Amino acid sequence: MIIKNAEVVLEDGVKRADLRIENGKIAEIGQKLKGDGIDCKGLTVLPGLIDMHVHLREPGFERKEDIASGSRAAVKGGFTQVCCMPNTKPVTDNKVVVSYIKQRAKEVDLCKVHPIGAITEGQAGENLAAIGAMKAAGAVAISEDGKSVPSAKIMANAMQYAADFGLKCLCHCEDSALVDGGVVHEGYYATLTGLKGSIRAAEDLIIAREILLAESLSLPVHICHVSTYSGVQLIREAKARGVQVTAETCPHYFTLTDEVISTFDTNTKVNPPIREEKDRLAIIEGLQDGTLDCIVTDHAPHHEDDKNVEYALAAFGISGLETSFALSYTQLVRGGALSLPELAAKMSANPARILGLEGGALTVGAPADLTIVDLNAKWKIDPKDFVSKGKNTPFTGREVYGKVVYTYVDGELKYSI
Ligand code: DOR
Ligand code: ZN
Ligand code: ZN
Repeated sequence: MIIKNAEVVLEDGVKRADLRIENGKIAEIGQKLKGDGIDCKGLTVLPGLIDMHVHLREPGFERKEDIASGSRAAVKGGFTQVCCMPNTKPVTDNKVVVSYIKQRAKEVDLCKVHPIGAITEGQAGENLAAIGAMKAAGAVAISEDGKSVPSAKIMANAMQYAADFGLKCLCHCEDSALVDGGVVHEGYYATLTGLKGSIRAAEDLIIAREILLAESLSLPVHICHVSTYSGVQLIREAKARGVQVTAETCPHYFTLTDEVISTFDTNTKVNPPIREEKDRLAIIEGLQDGTLDCIVTDHAPHHEDDKNVEYALAAFGISGLETSFALSYTQLVRGGALSLPELAAKMSANPARILGLEGGALTVGAPADLTIVDLNAKWKIDPKDFVSKGKNTPFTGREVYGKVVYTYVDGELKYSI
């Protein structure tokens, strides 16, 4: 099969080329290749997007999402691989749940789904989970996402165990005593709305803790969903002195500010919270200078019943898989902050490198995981069009550019417009 006449996003630039797909792999990239295929004139081929931070909710919270609906949302959003967080019920803290997720994803057969194991049993913060057994069953990382590990000692042990098994710790950074029930960013709009705020230091303290642990132990660490300007600065300084730290952020942190909470729309409630313009700008700078390696969705689908309640009681989270590429492309590439190959690195090559996954680049011999987009298609975000069960988005009505037209996984068409 030949993908013809497309703009192909390679690591060093965008080139008009044809791609030959054979046995699920990219067999040849060249000019005027002969054979049957599809004409992609006017379309752009990106390396299959990889989202290293999603919540698929299965097992246990299938009312919010399940592996089938989450996988459909993933391929519609252009993602060929996703890594799912362990805050399921039961918690993904053992090889049985890890195997279950892999098995279910295989039956669904849309995108590649990589489970992330919990750091502690039941995410209770006390005893380390069976990290080696989870790795053997297919876990690609460990994380306590949804919260931080309270004890620095247990976190240090986890980093050591994870490193022994060749896994990274992905750290949700939040000092719960300092958050103290806060639901939004502490600032002008928290005061205006009367909603309880939490200060940047609630996030930054744990970012600093994880960096210092990684530095003392000479081990790697990955910081999840960075939302503060001060967190960006901590990571930048740590990288400059050689700490093995990598980091991610999400589209809502570089497209929105806390002004959006003044509507009391619970779809703006997310953890960490949406912060101020100076944070938003610092996050874009962090993406530009390489401080922030990845863009992830933190896809956190919720049922309407979890969101259609007063702000303080609503669940935290944004359904992100179906809007991430367009928001990122529109804000960052059309906005002039990143080139298209740089965006592809944040959404494909870097997550692959950090987790040691196959894929991430369009090269001969690589799996034919392809995200084919129409960059000139302008559309309006409407959760009624989401295939995710989670309709919780703060972006309703927003106009964006960039529509996913085809998603191929191992050379097989898994989504077309
Ligand atoms: O907003 C969030 N939602 N942040 C988290 O850390 C967890 C996530 C969820 O699982 O809903
Ligand atoms: Zn988190
Ligand atoms: Zn998360």
